[in-house]
Amino acid sequence: MGYTGVVTFSYWAHEANIRDLADPLAAFRDRFYRKSGEIYLDGNSLGLLSTNAEACVLRVLNEWKTLGIGGWTDAGKPWYTLSESLSESLAPLVGADTDEVIITGSTTANLHQLLATLYEPGAGREAILMDALSFPSDIFAAQSFLRGRGLDSATHLHRVQSRNGRTVETGDIIAALETGAYCLAVLPSVIYMSGQLLDMARITEAARANGTIIGWDLSHSVGTIPHDLSGIGADFAFWCSYKYLNAGPGAVGGLYLNRRHFDKSVGLAGWWGSHKETQFAMTHNFAPATGAGALQVGTPHLLSLAPLEGALRITHEAGIHAIRAKSLALTAFLRDTLAARFGFDFATPESDDQRGGHLAVIHPDAARISRALRRAQVMPDFRPPDILRLAPVALYTSFGDCVEAMARLSTILETRSYLSDEGSELVP
Ligand SMILES: Cc1ncc(COP(=O)(O)O)c(C=O)c1O
Repeated sequence: MGYTGVVTFSYWAHEANIRDLADPLAAFRDRFYRKSGEIYLDGNSLGLLSTNAEACVLRVLNEWKTLGIGGWTDAGKPWYTLSESLSESLAPLVGADTDEVIITGSTTANLHQLLATLYEPGAGREAILMDALSFPSDIFAAQSFLRGRGLDSATHLHRVQSRNGRTVETGDIIAALETGAYCLAVLPSVIYMSGQLLDMARITEAARANGTIIGWDLSHSVGTIPHDLSGIGADFAFWCSYKYLNAGPGAVGGLYLNRRHFDKSVGLAGWWGSHKETQFAMTHNFAPATGAGALQVGTPHLLSLAPLEGALRITHEAGIHAIRAKSLALTAFLRDTLAARFGFDFATPESDDQRGGHLAVIHPDAARISRALRRAQVMPDFRPPDILRLAPVALYTSFGDCVEAMARLSTILETRSYLSDEGSELVP
């Protein structure tokens, strides 16, 4: 379908206006640093800075300036227990008790830790189950973990295949689990490329029924989709804080450990996993914290932890259910406008219960269109070979932004100027 003209544009602009006026989250937009004239649709890669996150970084910097080493104990929120206090704030977003969550590490490092702690092979049950569309870093972590155990990932790491190269069928995952061959499974809540949201409850239930420890990579859902990890009975989860949680580039991530695993020995131990009251006894006997906190390794990265405090405050003020409702409305609106105007195909499933926080447009020229959009001050991203990812974020994207992005895209496609672009796309 081609460009359908000004009438369609006016219709969508009018629709957007009505929705923006009725948007209960509209006021949050002004608490984020948005570049004038730019439409930022890359919050699924790096969320924007809020005034709240900024204030928390500045507070910690000032504490360092004025308190020096004293900041560990005398700061407004003592640095020594800042990870634990932020865990209390984050736990409701993933549906867990505070002691089942710890803010620590990065996505990949946390997966290594959880594998090292929870992988317990049994007879005929040594393999790990993942999926063919998993984020590469998760696969690399599992491969190197198996190598360290003297196991070959060619035989011990199985990937549920995708039938269409975009999404994974729940039935295929469940069928794999029902073979009983897996001691552990790691899957994404939302597939980073297509934005497909997996049926976490059904898959977790199947894993548990078949004796498989199951963990979830929540990188593309935490902060935009409510979770109920304890309710569904997940064994573990891990995530980053720089996407929908808006805590900044390289912000400290987090992990969840179901309390039924609190008795497990820590796979990658370090002094920061010690019981807080005895950590400074400095003996060579590791006395772990009770709960997920035991999975910390070394000194927390305070300056990358601080912004999460402010970022979480905004998320709680807005409410995760209101965020999810607006996010779904935004992605549906953007999808409908793009489909009506350009006839695009999407890798993202249409139904709300299978759609994460972004839209994945399939286009053979996705890379060049992505770069042309950036030149037109619309910030999407490209994932090879043919995906243009667009993430309208509930806290700072308006429906009007979606229409404006569509108008700029119209110009790009009409003039076909993107066709002469021979650049390359290496932006993360
Ligand atoms: C789904 C997913 N998993 C893992 C990672 C790797 O995260 P990190 O670099 O924080 O370890 C990313 C990064 O974007 C991701 O999107």
